[in-house]
Amino acid sequence: MPFLSRAFAILALTTMTVTAAATTGIRLASWNLRFDSMPNNITVQQSLAALPDPLQQPAFLGLSGEQPWSTRRIRVAQRLLSEKIVLAGFQEALVRQVNDMATLLGSDWSWVGVGRDDGVAAGEFSPIFFNKPVFKLINNDTFWLSNTPFDAGSKFPGAGSVRIATATHFEIKATGKRFTYINTHLDDQSDDQRRLGASLILWRAHFEAAQNGGHSTVLITGDFNSASTGEDAGAYQIITGAIPPVPINSTFQQRFPIPSGALANFTALDLRTQVPRFGVSGNFASFTGFNAPDDTSQYQRIDFIFGGSNGGWTGEAIKVETALTDDGVIASDHRPVFGDISL
Ligand SMILES: *[C@@H]1O[C@H](CO)[C@@H](O)[C@H](O)[C@H]1NC(C)=O
Ligand SMILES: *[C@@H]1O[C@H](CO)[C@@H](O)[C@H](O)[C@H]1NC(C)=O
Ligand SMILES: *[C@@H]1O[C@H](CO)[C@@H](O)[C@H](O)[C@H]1NC(C)=O
Ligand SMILES: *[C@@H]1O[C@H](CO)[C@@H](O)[C@H](O)[C@H]1NC(C)=O
Repeated sequence: MPFLSRAFAILALTTMTVTAAATTGIRLASWNLRFDSMPNNITVQQSLAALPDPLQQPAFLGLSGEQPWSTRRIRVAQRLLSEKIVLAGFQEALVRQVNDMATLLGSDWSWVGVGRDDGVAAGEFSPIFFNKPVFKLINNDTFWLSNTPFDAGSKFPGAGSVRIATATHFEIKATGKRFTYINTHLDDQSDDQRRLGASLILWRAHFEAAQNGGHSTVLITGDFNSASTGEDAGAYQIITGAIPPVPINSTFQQRFPIPSGALANFTALDLRTQVPRFGVSGNFASFTGFNAPDDTSQYQRIDFIFGGSNGGWTGEAIKVETALTDDGVIASDHRPVFGDISL
């Protein structure tokens, strides 16, 4: 079935009876929105009012390079809404970008997350946005991907930035099914930070999966700044179990205790490897930069959707969409990754 018709079938959000348990199809997104590096104090209403006549032909590829967030945010929200996503993890969003997304996605949406620099609103968020008719948020927390994970604003030595993970528990309203969802953004400069971050997230995901006799569903999204192969692959290899995790803070291990022997070989499974081959569509690279469309020199697959190896979810499709439109605007230097999962 073509991606779209498959997607709309899933996104009918009706419950299907599969043997005994009802499942719900959801589409989630992971998208690094690129921080607002060119603030221009234009309101969302001003951006919307300035949209051109829909019949007006643009100057094809007339714009190049990074455009201000005030322009990019319209494309970001349009893409997400037209894809009918119901859950999204973003990266690099400053508080004004979080507020803009809340405005543009509309009143069916809510979000959770904190600024990484102070645990409130300073610095970039890794926020989780969710569609309220579909999900009830049970609770949320943030941990820092450092040697002191509960100290807000703490930074791993040698990392370029403070790094966080946003953790949530949701309930699907239609079925009552609960799951854990973690969204993150690992460091762009320190491979050691990325390995530590992946190790902390894997531990936390393992803890969550081990609840309810090992039957708790876990989903993870993020910009890992780590490809699946090559010299930067450590974080990807750790979270997928290809290499062992690195030592992590013992207070963290005590707060999230994994019962001895529970799900001994728990790992995160890359959604791209967990759907039928025909369900993998769109592009390969998730990072493109703001270079001209024919310059692939920076292309990398570093943004992922994972599910816990203990199951409780089924991968249906994954798609990496373009962020480019005819006028040359690139909505972000990353492309959005869309996953269709039933759970
Ligand atoms: C942004 O725009 C508002 C409303 O026009 C104005 O009051 C404010 O001074 C502007 N801020 C900056 C930093 O330009
Ligand atoms: C997220 O968790 C914090 C800490 O428990 C809580 O104060 C806050 O209300 C939660 N946010 C939402 C949207 O539930
Ligand atoms: C572990 O993290 C906690 C909370 O952030 C911190 O208080 C503690 O000092 C850390 N332990 C070590 C050995 O660094
Ligand atoms: C975990 O993996 C090890 C090594 O492959 C294997 O011997 C063991 O049986 C596995 N444990 C479980 C619970 O699957």
